[in-house]
Amino acid sequence: MTIARTAATAAGSGGLHPDVLAFSTSFHLDRALFKEDLLGSLAHLSMLTKVGLMPAADAKALHQGLVGLWSEDVDTLPQDEEDIHMAVEAELAKRVGEPAGRLHTARSRNDQVALDVHLHVREQCANILDALASFIDELATRAEAERETFFPSYTHRQRAIPISAAYWLAAYGMMFARDAELFTFALNQVDQLPLGVGAIAGSSLPIDREHVRARLGFSRITQNGLDTVGNRDFAMDYTYAVTRLMLHGSRLAADVIDFATAEFGFLTLDGSIACGSSMMPQKKNPDVFELIRGKSTRALGNHVSMLTMVKGLPGGYLRDLQEDRAPLLETGPLARSVLAMLRLSLPKVTFDVEACREALLGDYTQATDLAEALVKKGLAFRKAYQAVGALVTFAKNQGLPLAQVTLEQAQQVNAAFDAKVLECLDPLTSVARKVSAGSTGPQAVAVQIAALREAARTARATAASVPRLATLFQALKETP
Ligand code: ARG
Repeated sequence: MTIARTAATAAGSGGLHPDVLAFSTSFHLDRALFKEDLLGSLAHLSMLTKVGLMPAADAKALHQGLVGLWSEDVDTLPQDEEDIHMAVEAELAKRVGEPAGRLHTARSRNDQVALDVHLHVREQCANILDALASFIDELATRAEAERETFFPSYTHRQRAIPISAAYWLAAYGMMFARDAELFTFALNQVDQLPLGVGAIAGSSLPIDREHVRARLGFSRITQNGLDTVGNRDFAMDYTYAVTRLMLHGSRLAADVIDFATAEFGFLTLDGSIACGSSMMPQKKNPDVFELIRGKSTRALGNHVSMLTMVKGLPGGYLRDLQEDRAPLLETGPLARSVLAMLRLSLPKVTFDVEACREALLGDYTQATDLAEALVKKGLAFRKAYQAVGALVTFAKNQGLPLAQVTLEQAQQVNAAFDAKVLECLDPLTSVARKVSAGSTGPQAVAVQIAALREAARTARATAASVPRLATLFQALKETP
């Protein structure tokens, strides 16, 4: 715990107070960035060697030391350093001696931590995007299977117009497809090498940032060091993308939770994903979906932490930025666990086709179709709308669902109703009548499913194009 201290730092102080170290250390958190830190050092070493700033013998020793550490547990590092960067350097000093003192040439922890966090966010975005692609595909497949399952849609949580379950599933698919685009944006933001800008202003040594960039698989280098060491925008883009993904999962969960109640009765949960009550023997609870909804709180909290961490900061690196660690490190596992649960549990949620039919047959959700049928006859929409409103009132007064109104009764209410118009009284054919783009109609839903397939393909290809840490290591391991 003496590496980042000089006579100037420590004059007369007798060393860093242990309580200050305990308060300021980030090691307990950024030990999760061990692999990222080693990769950065391997690429930096490769560059220093290439430009002649590292003697060959030292390069060899350091390379061996770093490669050796890759397969070891982070617990082998000294545990009393300020952060992962110092811990690795201290361990290297133990293992290879003097050469360890050359590795930090033209490097600062400011650009080093920026690199570690870039590598972490890039890897997480790729992993999440890949899982998201699979989930979007699964939603498309399920939608295909549910084209003939009809139930009422809701506006203001009141029954609205019949839709197919395929349309409902595709709606969530669209949300997740937009999230995939957001992760792709975040991947683009994070795709620049921060290492090599030093503490803030670069270096007077002839370093080659392009070499490091290529070895770490970034497509460009950052342009301004002062900006680079204080930049966490890419991390905020990532926590936002995760937050939005989780909010979409939360809304899907809210629908499932409602639809699985006795009051709605549209969905049944398989026993393998339902939780019981410790007291009420009859209970079959949707805890998984409640937690999917509940965990979005944490993602949102983490995102807000990132934003408020930066708010009020001047330019350049400040230690405040270390507070990115806890929210960032929690974000990836949170997103992946929720995606995994959505993928596991949604196939175990089945539609109660009979209950869905009943909900349509016993209600008035085909009223809009009836008004549109009158429009087809030439009535002004507002007149048609009033006529159907009167018919609904009549039926309700008779205690009849709309589907059971007869031609005679309808004509008593308004002479404009005829046999052709009353074909629309069947709520089970309502979905098939929808012909507009973006509607619940069969052709429009086929277009939506195709769009989801395309979104999944694109997301999967983007994820596959991201250089992964393990692959980068294989190349860095070979050549010092
Ligand atoms: N532990 C620090 C962080 O996580 C590393 C950078 C520290 N830089 C410094 N000049 N103290 O942000």
